[in-house]
Amino acid sequence: MEEIIRGAKSIKEAESLKGKRVLLRLDLNVPVLNGKVEDDFRIRKSIPTINYLKERGAKVVIISHIWEDESKTLKPVYDHLVEKIPLTFAQDCINKETQDAIEKMQEGDVILLENLRLYEGETKNDINFANELSRLADIYVNDAFAVSHREHASLISLPKLLPSYYGLLFEDEIKNLSTVLNPSKPFLFILGGAKFETKIPLIIEYLEKADYVYVAGALANDFFKVQGYEMGISKLSGKDYKLEDYLDRKNLILPKDVTVKNKDGIFVKKPSEVESDDMILDIGVEAMIELKELVSKSKFILWNGPLGDYKKGFRDRTIDLAKAIIDSPAKSVVGGGDTFAVISKLKLEDEFDFMSTAGGALLEFIYSGTLPGLEALKNQA
Ligand code: 3PG
Repeated sequence: MEEIIRGAKSIKEAESLKGKRVLLRLDLNVPVLNGKVEDDFRIRKSIPTINYLKERGAKVVIISHIWEDESKTLKPVYDHLVEKIPLTFAQDCINKETQDAIEKMQEGDVILLENLRLYEGETKNDINFANELSRLADIYVNDAFAVSHREHASLISLPKLLPSYYGLLFEDEIKNLSTVLNPSKPFLFILGGAKFETKIPLIIEYLEKADYVYVAGALANDFFKVQGYEMGISKLSGKDYKLEDYLDRKNLILPKDVTVKNKDGIFVKKPSEVESDDMILDIGVEAMIELKELVSKSKFILWNGPLGDYKKGFRDRTIDLAKAIIDSPAKSVVGGGDTFAVISKLKLEDEFDFMSTAGGALLEFIYSGTLPGLEALKNQA
């Protein structure tokens, strides 16, 4: 841990926080359903750093992104957080009204600014946007481990402009994850969900590192497609990742069968039997048996992303997988916003060896041993 983080500073090292305006980068990108936060794991995990700063008399200016199909505003997050901590909400990150609201803050006050990704400067890592943000504060704290794999302005450029620190959650993630940088073998990597752009490159990387790479969720559909199967109205990336180059890898395992929905009901089929009006929404029965067998013979399991489309009600197999992992003697690390949305309802989160708040960042950290957001803290001005 010390080696990985050397050169970056903990918020606990900041001399005096009293009266200081602190720009606190959190990852509050949580699932939202019908305008309400569906799972608050990331929010709950962010609270210790907010309280740490409040208790020391800082003026806490929270910045975050949210990039959910259902929400491009942090208002639902604000509505949820305000039940736990008194705070205000600014509908803009940098305008005059926001500047004035920050100017008026008292020691211990907290304000949440609107979604950073509504500004294109954020994802473009634009130094001018970072400059505008930096004017709002005296110091910067990155407690957004879960998005620190992105080279975005609030993660990469802000440490160039303000004295910078990492927060309590960031430290906890690194402390726990640095123990699994050299996983015991057999190592099973299970990847589900539908974030094609982030996850397909990781499947390719982990084919070199893991003993078994089990691909489920909508990600598997892209592989079935390059096998030449009809995918009906199932979710696909729409991109060409040249997946045919990996189909002969012995450690790549795709579901043997899938659960589909069509106008006549819900059926389990082989991927080769999917028809034009079918939508694949989960793995099938045989696939589940095979996956559980892999779980039982592995010593380390890294899991990210649900097996099925839980927002459409397909959560049972994901829950079954969670239980199988918990019952197995393997060391387990689990992460990803949608994964917790399924399992946190069952209060299973403390049963894994470690439940990370991160998805893509978790996979990238375990793969490469660092993240761009961490490197930026080390190379700060
Ligand atoms: C996540 O949900 O993994 C992080 O918040 C990063 O989100 P992103 O994949 O939209 O960058």
